[in-house]
Amino acid sequence: MDRIEIEGGTGLKGNVRISGAKNAALPVMAASILGPGENIILNIPLLRDITTMGKLLAHLGMGYHQEDDEAILQSENITSIEAPYDFVKTMRASVLVLGPLLARTGEAKVSLPGGCAIGARPINLHIMGLEKMGARINLSEGYIHAKAKKLKGATIYFDMPTVTGTENLMMAATLAEGETLLENAACEPEIIDLANALISMGADIEGAGTGIIKIKGVTGLRPLHYKIIPDRIETGTFLTAAAITEGDVTIDNCDPVHTESFISKLRETGSEITHNSSTITVKGPARPNSEDIKTMPYPGFPTDMQAQFMTLMTIAEGTSLITENIFENRFMHVAELKRMGADIKIEGATAKVKGVEFLKGAPVMATDLRASASLILAGLAARGTTVIDRVYHLDRGYEKIEAKFKQLGAKIRRIKE
Ligand code: EPU
Repeated sequence: MDRIEIEGGTGLKGNVRISGAKNAALPVMAASILGPGENIILNIPLLRDITTMGKLLAHLGMGYHQEDDEAILQSENITSIEAPYDFVKTMRASVLVLGPLLARTGEAKVSLPGGCAIGARPINLHIMGLEKMGARINLSEGYIHAKAKKLKGATIYFDMPTVTGTENLMMAATLAEGETLLENAACEPEIIDLANALISMGADIEGAGTGIIKIKGVTGLRPLHYKIIPDRIETGTFLTAAAITEGDVTIDNCDPVHTESFISKLRETGSEITHNSSTITVKGPARPNSEDIKTMPYPGFPTDMQAQFMTLMTIAEGTSLITENIFENRFMHVAELKRMGADIKIEGATAKVKGVEFLKGAPVMATDLRASASLILAGLAARGTTVIDRVYHLDRGYEKIEAKFKQLGAKIRRIKE
C-alpha cells in the first residue's frame, strides 16, 4: 500500500486548479444508462471511484473510455441488470445504477451496500421511493431485486434529505408514467448538476436545489454531452490547506457559491478571503481563532469538510465544538490527530477541540476519504515528518493530490509500495 510523507511547516503559495466534482460525476455517469447512444462527460476527475463506476457500467454492457477529463460512455446496449457485490463493496455510490437501470430495462439487481467506516448508511429511503413508484422489490441474499414494467409517478417524502437517494429517484422518475414529487429532497449542488444533465437529455424536471423537486415522466431520453461542476469539497480542502499553513493561495476553476458556508466559517477563524465568479484567494492567519461548527445538509456546513475543519481547529487559539449531525461515526480521524498532539475529547456527536500551539509529525493511518484529507492538512501544518498510511482512500476522491500540493510548495512525496 502506498504511503504519503510530508515534511510540515511550509506556508503554501501559488495557484491550484480544482477538478470536476466526484459526487456530481458519479450520478451523471449513472444517468448515461438512460440515454441510449454515445454519452460524453467533460470535466470528469481522474479518480479511483470514477474508474470503479466506469467498470461497473462496462459490466452492464456499456462502453467506457476516459482520457484526461473526458469520458465517453456508449449505452446502446445494456446486457446485464446486475451490480455485483464486488463493485458495491468497493464503492457505495454503485447503488446509483439502481434507479436508471430499473427505469430503462424494467429490472435491476443491485448488491446491498453494507455499513462503512463513517456510519451504517442504510438505503431504505431509496427502496421506499421505488416501491411508491410501483416497483416490486425483493431483498434476498444480500441483493435488492427490483422489477417494474413501467414505473409510475408518485409523491415521495424523505424522512431526511438523502443525496444519492434523491438522485436515484430523480433518475428513475424521468422515464416514469406521470408526475413524481420528491419532498424534503436534498438540495446539494450535485443534485442540481444531475438535474441539469438530465434536462439536457430531454427530461422534464423543476425545483432541483430546493426541497421539492417535480419530475414529469417522458417517453425517452437522448444521450448526454455535459460538463461537470467543480468539486466543492476539493475546493474547501485547499482553502483549509492555505489557512492552516499561513499560506497565500489562489484556487482556480471553482464555484465560490457552492462553498459559501465554509468560506464564512473560515473568515471567522481569521483567514482573509476574496473571490470572483470562479477563483478564490485565501491568506491564512498567523494562528486561527476557534469557531464552532455543526454539520448540516446543504446549504449548511458540509459533513465532507468536518474532518478538515477540525484539523484547522487543533491549532486554533481557544476551544471549538465540532458537532457531526449527518453520520454517526465520522470521528475516525480524531485518534490519529491525537497521535500528532491534538487535544480532542469526544462527547456523543460533539468533539471538543482545545487548540494547541503546534502539531507534531507522526506516522498515522487514513481511515476514509475525508479523514485522509484531514491528515494531509495536519501533516502540512505539523513540525517534523508525518507519514500517512493507507492513502488508497485518498486516491478515491482527490485527483493528483501530491502534485497539486507540491505545486504550492509543500514538501510532500508518495512512497510507493
Ligand atoms: N440515510 C438513511 N436512509 C437512506 C439514505 C440515507 O437513513 O435511505 C441517512 C444516512 O445514514 C445519513 C443521512 O441519511 O445519516 C444522509 O446520507 P445521504 O444519503 O445523504 O448520503 P449519501 O448519499 O450516501 C452522499 C455523498 C457523501 C456525503 C453525503 C452527505 C455521494 C456519492 N456521496 O452520500 O460523500 O458525505 O452525501 O453529504 O454523493 C464523500 O465524498 O466522502 C462522501 C462520503
